Amino acid sequence: MTEQIFVRDCWYVAGMSDDFPAEKLTGQVIAKRPIVIWRTKDGEVVAYDDRCSHKRFPLSKGRLMADGTLECAYHGMRYDTSGKCVMIPSHPTGPISPQATVRAFPIIEQDGLVWIWPGDPEKSETRKPPRVPEVGDARWESICVGPMNVSANYMLLIENLLDITHFYPLHDGNIGDIANSRIPIELEEGTVDGNEYVMTVRKTSSYTQPPYLEDWFHYPVVDRHHTHCMMSPGLTRVVMRNAPPGELDVREGDTEFPGHLEPTGIERGYVLIHTHTPVDERSHVWRVIVNCPADNMSKGEPGKSTAKRVAEMFPEVAAEDLWAVAEQQRMFEYPDEGYSEVFLKPDLALRRARKILVDMHRTEQAGSRSEAAE
Ligand code: FES
Ligand SMILES: [Fe+2]
Repeated sequence: MTEQIFVRDCWYVAGMSDDFPAEKLTGQVIAKRPIVIWRTKDGEVVAYDDRCSHKRFPLSKGRLMADGTLECAYHGMRYDTSGKCVMIPSHPTGPISPQATVRAFPIIEQDGLVWIWPGDPEKSETRKPPRVPEVGDARWESICVGPMNVSANYMLLIENLLDITHFYPLHDGNIGDIANSRIPIELEEGTVDGNEYVMTVRKTSSYTQPPYLEDWFHYPVVDRHHTHCMMSPGLTRVVMRNAPPGELDVREGDTEFPGHLEPTGIERGYVLIHTHTPVDERSHVWRVIVNCPADNMSKGEPGKSTAKRVAEMFPEVAAEDLWAVAEQQRMFEYPDEGYSEVFLKPDLALRRARKILVDMHRTEQAGSRSEAAE
């Protein structure tokens, strides 16, 4: 992939629900769209173009008025929650042009996350944000790490997550475990809620856990089921289930979608939710939501929950990934002449993930070309 792309016709995470307290304006850039987002007094999250229709002043620098309108900080035009200008201070009684409207973005709040569709609003019904049932469920402890600003195209991070053969050497000294890289991979693909997904499945039995996994999940030797799934370009779900040998609940084929862990019972593990929100071709925002069964505690430090142990280790590991993808990104500045990329067997999933993104991008481009021709 010499071309670095992002797609707009996709749901992306703008933040956790708690990131949007009532009446606090926030400005973000998602897929090169500047967007102002806030929660109204009534609890609804709204999002529209951050550029005032008058002179492009960022509306996120304005203020919310008692009647719920947003006042631009420059000349004071006021917008209602649909993005329509309803008052212009310099001519309070004059007519307001319908052009004095800023574009609203479709928004969905579900499972404790706020999702935005930066693409064609008419297509927003064709896909739904992937579900994350663990977040907000009392049987789980969920901890969000981030947001982290990543100086790389989001595909590089999705590839990094789908390909865990980089644990050695990149994560040598923390989660590096070369034996893990040698576990054979099965691939699952399909479409759910309008989103094409690709999932890797790694099954292993009587596996000697590295010390950090024994600390998190207690059993020194396990049967293990590990899935990594790009559920959409906006979310990758990673599930690890561990049980003493012979005790893993091996379901028929054991490749059900998506990876799933029961929060009670003998199996221990995690559900990691990675969200990828592109800013532009060269940068994106990464969040990781660590979910572990709420009553699972660390073996080495029984006063501390497994979720907290995983989350506290994460920044060190993430720093290595952030470094790697930023270095890769830097090399994309040079033309491919004389260079060709090698694909190894475990790269199969990332190859499929790239194809999903490229196909989505082509469809989107073809749609905008045909609109332009009409
Ligand atoms: S730029 Fe917003 S009112 Fe003029
Ligand atoms: Fe990594």
